[in-house]
Order: sequence, then C-alpha cells, then structure tokens
Amino acid sequence: DWTPGNIVEDSIARVREQVGDRHVVLGLSGGVDSSVTAALLHRAIGDQLTCVFVDNGLLRQGEADQVMATFARHMGVRVIHIDAEDRFLTALSGVEDPEEKRRIIGNLFVEIFDEEAGKLQGVDFLAQGTIYPDVVESAGNAGGKSHVIKSHHNVGGLPETMKLKLVEPLRELFKDEVRRVGLELGLPADMLYRHPFPGPGLGVRILGEVHKRYADLLRRADAIFIEELRRWDWYDRTSQAFAVFLPVRSVGVTGDGRRYEYVVALRAVETVDFMTARWAQLPYEFLDHVSRRIINEIDGISRVVYDISGKPPATIEWE
Ligand code: XMP
Repeated sequence: DWTPGNIVEDSIARVREQVGDRHVVLGLSGGVDSSVTAALLHRAIGDQLTCVFVDNGLLRQGEADQVMATFARHMGVRVIHIDAEDRFLTALSGVEDPEEKRRIIGNLFVEIFDEEAGKLQGVDFLAQGTIYPDVVESAGNAGGKSHVIKSHHNVGGLPETMKLKLVEPLRELFKDEVRRVGLELGLPADMLYRHPFPGPGLGVRILGEVHKRYADLLRRADAIFIEELRRWDWYDRTSQAFAVFLPVRSVGVTGDGRRYEYVVALRAVETVDFMTARWAQLPYEFLDHVSRRIINEIDGISRVVYDISGKPPATIEWE
C-alpha cells in the first residue's frame, strides 16, 4: 500500500537498477520537483549524482544560499553553483516584451546547463523532476503559457553527442505525493510547501525592462511581504503571494522632505487550480503594516498598492 516510505524504497531500488554505477546530472532549481528528485537520487546513488544550480539573478531573497545550504552543506549533495546573474541581465537588457523575456531566460538556462553538464566526465543520465500531471499535460493540450512553462522547466536540448538517458523517478506521482516523499527524505517543510514560483522568476515580476537595481528592490519588498504573511499566519491561507515591481515613480513625503521613487504592487490570491483565482482579502491592518515596513525600510520605494483583480480577467502574474 501507498506510504511515502514505500514509495521512497521502491524508487531507490528502481533508480539503482536503472543507473547501476553510472553518473547522473540534474538541474536543481530549488523548486519542489527538482529538490525532491535531487534528494531521492542522492539517497539512491550518492556521489554518482551531480546537480547543476544556475542562479539567474532573478531568484527571491536568500534563495540561492538556501538551496546551497540545504543540498550541498546539509545533505552533502554534489552541487555546482553557477552565478549567472550578469549573463542573464545582459541578455535581458533592452527587452520589454514578457514572452520575449521568458524565451531569453529559458534558452539561456538551457545553454548554461548544457555547458556545465558537458564539462562533466562520464555522465550517462539526465534526471528530471517530471511529475504525473506534467506527463498528462504534455500528452494532451499545450495551449497558452503551458508550452512556455514546460520549455523551461524541463531541461531539453543537451548536445546530441551526449546521448543522455532520462531518469524521472517522480513520473507517477501527484504533487502532494511528491511533497510527502520530500518530507520522508528529510527536506524542510517550508521548502516543500512553498508557494509556486515561476521559472522566469523576478524576470516577469519586474514590468518591462529588467535592471539589477529593480531586482534588488523587488527582492527586499517581496521578502518583507512574505515574512509578514508567515508571521500573521496568512501564508498558508493564500495560494500564491508576491510583490511586483512597477517601473514608474511616484511622489512621497518623509520627515526630511520629498521623495520621488518607485512603486511596488502586492499580489495575493486564493486558488485551487491556478486557472481561476480570487484576490485574497487580507486584513487592512496587515496591509497597512506591510506597506509601512516596505516604504520605511526600502530607500527607493515610495508607494505600495494592493492588486484587487481576479483571474479571469487578470492573470496571477502581471506579465
Ligand atoms: P498566470 O499568470 O498565467 O499564472 O495566471 C498561473 C500560474 O502559472 C505561473 N506562471 C509560470 N510558471 N513559468 C512558470 O514556470 C512561467 O513562465 C509562468 N507564467 C506564469 C504563475 O506563477 C501561476 O502560479
């Protein structure tokens, strides 16, 4: 019968049988699926697994450190950490169109992953965090953004000469089962039960052209919002919550005078399937507190607004 323990034992046996004494490479993003895949493979084959973590400079505050702490330092997983912030920001410079930004971020990720995987000696397998809904989805429709989502979630396009075989230990599991397997493997609950985060990251939460200064300001505002949601016990009552950077400037006054700085929008939604969503009715006192913290603590942001648009007609992300 189904218990996370049985699934783990069974998956480990199957991975060992498939891989033998060969080597496996995995693109680790810090998301639930790739994290659980990494933990499972590490348990099954130890140092025969090498993970490549590409930091695109568009991650949330402290995220890269968290991934390295959890996997490399804590669990002893072999992780190659690539700081690719400059490459991503350079590739994105002058680009305003959301789909174009997605395409650039997705392609560059694949390019960098390929470079790194290509440097490894004797790798025969590519592991992917494909889960059951991904399998079903790619067999059927592929409308709207789902195409884009797939193209950069799942690492493709490795050099033909590498001829890697796929290892997909989560292929038969639903998301909630993946989370329970992750708990069984000792991954932190807050990593497994985190709100979803899009692959293009802050790249689609900074409207229009992406700049490092914008990303740095947004990271700080987003971290305050999420920290307070947790503190007020609202994090688990929302399905997804985040800050969005609006590259428009607005006037404000502080003790020492006039400010003319940027605007941040807060977005929080409740949804079951992410196809439709309602904006979360967060308490006014909470919004007031978060707004004050953001404006007082972040030099460069002078105004905070709350997004009260449902999906449809608005999407969850702003781009
Ligand atoms: P929208 O904005 O379409 O978002 O209402 C629905 C869900 O999909 C996520 N999303 C993405 N995830 N790559 C991803 O991996 C993307 O390009 C992307 N665009 C949207 C969004 O965060 C929400 O959970």
